[in-house]
Amino acid sequence: MPKSQIETIPSPNGLSQQMEFELALEFTRIVEEAAIESAKTMGMGDRPKSDQVATEAMRRAMDSVPMRGTIVIGEGERDQAPMLYIGEKVGAKMPDSVALPEVDIAVDPLEGTNLCATGAPNSITVLAASERGGLLHAPDCYMEKLVVGPACKDGIDLDAPVKYNLKMIAKSLDRDVKDLVVIVLDRPRHEKLIAEIRATGARIKLIGDGDLSAGIAAAVMGTGVHAVMGIGGAPEGVITAAAMRCLNGEILARLVVDKPELEERVKKMGIKDTKKIYHAQDLAPGENIVFAATGVTDGSLLKGVRFFGDGIRTQSLVMTRSTGKVRFIDSIHVHQEPDFKVRF
Ligand code: FBP
Repeated sequence: MPKSQIETIPSPNGLSQQMEFELALEFTRIVEEAAIESAKTMGMGDRPKSDQVATEAMRRAMDSVPMRGTIVIGEGERDQAPMLYIGEKVGAKMPDSVALPEVDIAVDPLEGTNLCATGAPNSITVLAASERGGLLHAPDCYMEKLVVGPACKDGIDLDAPVKYNLKMIAKSLDRDVKDLVVIVLDRPRHEKLIAEIRATGARIKLIGDGDLSAGIAAAVMGTGVHAVMGIGGAPEGVITAAAMRCLNGEILARLVVDKPELEERVKKMGIKDTKKIYHAQDLAPGENIVFAATGVTDGSLLKGVRFFGDGIRTQSLVMTRSTGKVRFIDSIHVHQEPDFKVRF
């Protein structure tokens, strides 16, 4: 690592604005490398393999980043996951005397594993990072979610009827309810929710997987997505919240704690009120947040990985909260052969 990089870090315990900038580039490389490896398995129908190569690539790339990172949301508990497990320390090995930023990291090395394994749209590699304590250590359980963009964040209520929320969203967007598009995971548990949305006249996009990338789409104008509703993974909910903090969107969420053993586990993790309604600010309270995602298969927000003769092309969304940057990064990873060419 260049010496100058070490010297710019003001405090070993914080993630300064400058580090937001510097880590953003490092994290871009991490999600790009994971996306390239998983994209090589696209359509092979081998879900574990797609996930494994993404996780290995992400882990490898993390170890070259000058930071003291801790995985707070990862592939599972230490005894279940060989790498990127909760509590795992990541980052380039440096003597303790070297001041490095201490960061908490939430990863989903391949969000939409099935989508990649079947070549369906919208699978991404994704991570979010913050200063210590800046991301909720959410249990690996389900979470009720309502995700909207900046214009709609003040009018919504997780406990209100679907009809009320859709009316508020439509009003905020200055359109009719029938002109809304709501994304819902296509699951039997959503039968009632889907019927209620249909009864309002709003249009629905049912997705097989990937409510995280759907949530990001809802917070970006022009994607044709206005809300995400329903129950999905809690870890994905925290990463969505990190993205919302960067995009000025909102996620309202509540853990689904429906078994006594889960209740016990959640309480052990320090969450006292299991019925609490979380906002983006509660799930990702960090002052400095870096969010990075790369498309694996083509999606509504990001193009998937493209392989061609002289190289590989990736598209990423990289955001930093306190410095207010939302970057769409189009990268060409060239095979460094004597006659390589780059196309616009
Ligand atoms: P993976 O990252 O494991 O592929 O999960 C994809 C996903 O569809 C998430 O987007 C969503 O939050 C969750 O799974 C829903 O869980 P389930 O498939 O159990 O309904």
